[in-house]
Amino acid sequence: MENVTLKLLQAMKARGEKIACLTAYDASFAALLDQAGIDVILVGDSLGMVVQGHTSTVSVTMDDMIYHSQCVSSAVEHSLVISDMPFMTYTNVEQALANATDLIQIGGAQMVKLEASARQVSIVHELSECGVPVCAHLGLRPQYVHKLGGYFMQGASEESAEELFSNAMSLQAAGADMLLLECIPGSLARKITHHCAIPVIGIGAGPECDGQILVLHDVLGVTRGITPKFAKNFLAVAKDIPAAVAAYVDAVKSSSFPADA
Ligand code: KIV
Repeated sequence: MENVTLKLLQAMKARGEKIACLTAYDASFAALLDQAGIDVILVGDSLGMVVQGHTSTVSVTMDDMIYHSQCVSSAVEHSLVISDMPFMTYTNVEQALANATDLIQIGGAQMVKLEASARQVSIVHELSECGVPVCAHLGLRPQYVHKLGGYFMQGASEESAEELFSNAMSLQAAGADMLLLECIPGSLARKITHHCAIPVIGIGAGPECDGQILVLHDVLGVTRGITPKFAKNFLAVAKDIPAAVAAYVDAVKSSSFPADA
C-alpha cells in the first residue's frame, strides 16, 4: 500500500480519484482504518463529543489533542494523519505556531486543521510559510456553536455563499493545502471544489467534493441518539467493523456516497 502524502492527494484530485477520510481517536481503530485503505485519518476535536461525552467540541484542550494524536499516529503506517487545533488555540500567529508545532512534533500529525474564515488567513499564511501543512475547515464551524446558537447549514443565502467562496479562495492563496467544507449546499461545494487547485473534502456538502469525511462513530451507528442528516451507518448492513469501513471506502471511491439528497 502506498503512503499517503499531500503530493498523492493532489494527484488524486487531478485524476478525479475520490479521497476517503474518517476520524479516529485511538490506536486500534487507527490501525483498522489504515489497513482498510482510508486515505486520511483526522484526529478530530469531535472527540470532545464522541469520546468525552460533551455536547460540543469547545472543551477539548491541546493536551487532549496531543494525547489522542499520539495514540493514532503510533498505529498508522500509510494514511495521512491530520490533527485538529482546538477552540481558542490559534487566536494569533505566535499561539498558532506553538500549538501546531506540538501537534506535529509531539502528537505525530502530518497536517493540522483549523476552523477558518477571513480572520484566519494571516495565521494560515504564517503556518504555511513555516512548513506546517494546513487544512482550513469552512462552512459549519462547530467551535462557533455558542455564537451560532446550534449546528446549522451555512452558505445558504447568496451573500453568505459569496463570502464563503471568497474565504475559500483567500485561504488557498494564503497557503492552505486542503479545505474541509462542512454542511453547506452541494452547489456551493461544487463551485469551490472546481475553482480550487487543492483537495477539497466534504461532510454534508454533497457528492462533488474531491473526497468525503465522516465521524467514525456515525459510520458505525454509535450515535447516542443524535445522528447528523448527512451521516450513514455502514455497519447496519455489514458483517463486522472492518467490513463496514471497507464498504465506506468503496462507497466514497465509487461516488455512491453521499447521495445528492
Ligand atoms: O472534529 C471533527 O471530527 C471534524 C469532522 C466533523 C470533519 O472536524
